[in-house]
Amino acid sequence: MSSILILYSTTDGHTRQICQRLQAVVEARGHRVTVMPLADATAETLAGADAVVIGASIRYGKHKPEVAAFIARHQAALEARPNALFSVNVVARKPEKNRPETNPYMQKFLATLAWKPQRMAVFAGRLDYPSLGTLDRTMIRFIMWMTKGPTDPTAVVEFTDWSKVEAFGAELAQMVPATVRP
Ligand SMILES: Cc1cc2nc3c(=O)[nH]c(=O)nc-3n(C[C@H](O)[C@H](O)[C@H](O)COP(=O)(O)O)c2cc1C
Repeated sequence: MSSILILYSTTDGHTRQICQRLQAVVEARGHRVTVMPLADATAETLAGADAVVIGASIRYGKHKPEVAAFIARHQAALEARPNALFSVNVVARKPEKNRPETNPYMQKFLATLAWKPQRMAVFAGRLDYPSLGTLDRTMIRFIMWMTKGPTDPTAVVEFTDWSKVEAFGAELAQMVPATVRP
């Protein structure tokens, strides 16, 4: 049984939910999985993992600075084992922007990194208008209006394609050999 570490950087929790779905898929394929906030992971945490996955969401055009900082600090440890990166954003609701090669945030982010993740994914996120403060809600509604998305301030919209998340989970499970089969 191999141990896969899934680290998340989230603001509202949706990236954590995606990580938990990945965990269920990977565990069902015979691996041990630890899901934790990226901020809590240390060099020792990485040393104990056979493979590492980092998931991060976009807010106002950027992943949190902690993501690039973590990657720079631990690049050697990431490269020493199978590794993967995924991004969560609502631009990825558009079919022409929902792959690592076509998602502008993923492409911009990769260009800033020396690390080349072995596997990558992009998932569409979730908008929960009622839970946002007035300024964020107004800004996001404006961005959605400009990009032909939902603008109803009472709406909660989940764009995530969970079958795509599960397919990525199956891919992650193949990064390491499984000795225990379900
Ligand atoms: C204040 C705010 C700003 C956002 N900015 C962007 C953005 O610039 N581009 C984008 O594609 N998605 C943007 N999103 C959508 C988030 O990426 C999406 O809600 C995602 O599911 C958030 O994941 P999290 O809950 O893990 O933080 C924004 C969401 C909020 C609430």
